[in-house]
Amino acid sequence: MKVGVVLGSGLGAFADALGHGKEDQHKETPYKEIAGWPVSTAVGHAGKLVEGRIGNADVIVLSGRVHFYEGYSAQQVTFGIRELKKRGVTSVILTNAAGGINTAYKPGEFVLISDHINLMGMNPLMGPNDDALGPRFPDMSEAYSKRLRKLAQDAAAETGWLLKEGVYVGLSGPSYETPAEIRYLRTIGADLVGMSTVPETIVANHLGMEVLGISCVTNMAAGILPQKLVHEEVLETGAGVRETIIQLLKAIVPRLA
Ligand code: HPA
Repeated sequence: MKVGVVLGSGLGAFADALGHGKEDQHKETPYKEIAGWPVSTAVGHAGKLVEGRIGNADVIVLSGRVHFYEGYSAQQVTFGIRELKKRGVTSVILTNAAGGINTAYKPGEFVLISDHINLMGMNPLMGPNDDALGPRFPDMSEAYSKRLRKLAQDAAAETGWLLKEGVYVGLSGPSYETPAEIRYLRTIGADLVGMSTVPETIVANHLGMEVLGISCVTNMAAGILPQKLVHEEVLETGAGVRETIIQLLKAIVPRLA
């Protein structure tokens, strides 16, 4: 079974780590060489598909994603997921940088996504449905696989970690939230806030793929701390935990395959 990994803002290090060990032979394809692939403009997004192996697992890593806030369509932001499905991927790990709404979280911490709330103002399945790919009205009652979360917890436990779990709310961005919006999002049950992942999860579920979502809490959400939010902080936190995410993914991926 093939595992797909989508790397979020500042978390691209995993793709580079793949292939530096002798068991991890890899092949890189820049997105621009893949027909139809929308190319990213965001700082911190490299834009390549990396095929390799970790242990006995075949892995395809998407390093860099395009976002709805960049002006790409709902179809375009989920192009990579459809491409992974075409290439035989059955389980996909979606990583992202997120703001921590839950005050039990700390910047630099990794949290498993247990569920999501779609406040992006779009759904990537709108429009005609291709019944050959998936149902018109896909079930979302276990959008983030319990089975994969358990495997991820087992993998993390090997390294002595216990991962917290939480609900991710997806907003379009690109402005960060106001403190009032964060209080509202907490009230409706969100623990994490970000600008990606939700459309990809919807499409992956439509295609019958299992999803594991991992958020890196890069900052506390607006209004929690007496400081402004800056994208550089998001990237710096991502860079600070590069070894941790590599270790975590290397432990998780073989268990999913
Ligand atoms: N809000 C939205 N998206 C984010 C944040 C945030 O605070 N941090 C990283 N991505």
